Amino acid sequence: MVITGNFRLHCRAVLVICAALCVCACGRGEQPAVQSTAKAAPASPPPQAAPPARPVVVMPRPPELKALPIVLEQGAAVYGERCGNCHGLDGISGGTIPDLRFMNADTHLGFLDIVLGGSHSDNGMPGFAEVMTESDANAVHAYIISRARETYTGD
Ligand code: HEC
Repeated sequence: MVITGNFRLHCRAVLVICAALCVCACGRGEQPAVQSTAKAAPASPPPQAAPPARPVVVMPRPPELKALPIVLEQGAAVYGERCGNCHGLDGISGGTIPDLRFMNADTHLGFLDIVLGGSHSDNGMPGFAEVMTESDANAVHAYIISRARETYTGD
């Protein structure tokens, strides 16, 4: 058999194509391995923003309590009937409407003006003069003070 130049050229071409195919195949075969190594590397935790500081609400010192137990009972009943729906049952508010245990000295002083006189009615706090006596309002005030004193942890 005579090996012609043409045949040699043909063989070389085939070899080159084979080599090229091999490089391509090997290259492709390696790619997933490289990717999986990258995936296995431990991911660094994303940077986290500091949580927003929550305002600390300190309960003002409640006034002295000068009410008989029977008055506190009356106040608890009136509170449950007239105030609890908005200010929270048992005198504990969910937070949107003021928790009356946290009233400050000025609010204690103005209590009857607010509750009977309706001095905060523009802000959604109705006046109750038509449905409550002053004795009822004072009893509710005493009840709220007693709830505040049960909760107060200061001096
Ligand atoms: C319809 C809902 C509603 C009812 C019922 C209600 N309140 Fe209020 N009350 C409010 C709202 C709203 C405010 C907040 C008003 C403001 O920001 O000025 C408020 C505020 C107050 C304040 C002022 C608190 C502070 O720290 O500034 C007092 C005192 C108060 N209420 C007492 C009472 C009492 C006592 C009763 C029951 C007799 C009562 N409220 C019933 C809605 C209500």
